[in-house]
Amino acid sequence: MHVLVCGGAGYVGSHACLALARAGHEVTVLDNLFAGHREAVRWGPLVEADILRPETLDAGFARRVDAVMHFCARSLVGESVTDPVAYYQNNVAGTLNLLETMRRHGVDRLVFSSTAAVFGNPVSDVIDEEHPKDPINPYGASKLMVERILADAAAAYGLRSVALRYFNAAGAAADEGIGESHEPETHLIPNALKAAAGAGAGLKVFGNDYPTRDGTCVRDYVHVLDLADAHLRALDWMDREPGAHRFNLGNGNGFSVLEVIEAARRVTGHDIPYEIAPRRAGDPPVLVASSALAREKLGWTPKYDRIEPIIETAWAWHRAPAF
Ligand code: UFG
Repeated sequence: MHVLVCGGAGYVGSHACLALARAGHEVTVLDNLFAGHREAVRWGPLVEADILRPETLDAGFARRVDAVMHFCARSLVGESVTDPVAYYQNNVAGTLNLLETMRRHGVDRLVFSSTAAVFGNPVSDVIDEEHPKDPINPYGASKLMVERILADAAAAYGLRSVALRYFNAAGAAADEGIGESHEPETHLIPNALKAAAGAGAGLKVFGNDYPTRDGTCVRDYVHVLDLADAHLRALDWMDREPGAHRFNLGNGNGFSVLEVIEAARRVTGHDIPYEIAPRRAGDPPVLVASSALAREKLGWTPKYDRIEPIIETAWAWHRAPAF
């Protein structure tokens, strides 16, 4: 297949390109390089375009596209609380532009990056697809709106789609020259690794008064290559199944912020100094996935089911980042 990977210069998108290429697919990357990296585009040509400028998008469809993977998004929970309009604009209006362009070019398959943030505060220990959707931040709300749009587009235009709700993406394919590189970096694992390396502004733990086992937030960390693998499986699934589908992607194991810091200390062999800071707006206390549906329907089995090997791959990248 020829797959147009929108946001393919970014963190999860570039790992999806690697997985596509390994599976023998052809890749074209469409990216505005706002958060993505030119150096991460290694498995196909780059079309510089912006989903907020619809007139630029046709260039991505110059060659017949069989399916689109859509990773373009603003994705920081805290920033979405302080600048919601930017989030709705990019994540919702931008996606509408992309869907319109796909329709014009007769492309009817889409894998969409969704998020655990569509659920809001959990009402059960693990979150399956039926869990109520009640986002507590504009980022999650913007992704949930797109999921709704995809369901409507399936009914109206026959668009086939799979929304993959990532829990916490982590890790890297350092041996392939790609990994996580955000500016500024807001995510826990890279920030803990910076602290281990004696770099960065000093690690802060955002809140230790949550109703969890040690008072810090619990998250389900899933390796970015396992996420990429789920995207390949979603392509196969759409071949067989019309309609709009959603799957949760996580390992089903929750780790608190302090447990992640301790695991990073073990992996790196370095002390990781930190200070306790106030809670960060928009953070639910616990997010742990049930991925039973993805396992059953997509045949997805995460290869990295423990936190240390995930952090090891992130550390390998962190010690020698290519960008
Ligand atoms: N955290 C810290 N210190 C840091 C960074 C993070 O204590 O320096 C804490 C956060 O407060 C949170 C946990 O570590 O409790 C994980 O935070 P991340 O920023 O690494 O990840 P998030 O859980 O905020 O975000 C991820 C994805 C989002 C997605 C979200 C689902 O990046 O796209 O999971 O809530 F929406």
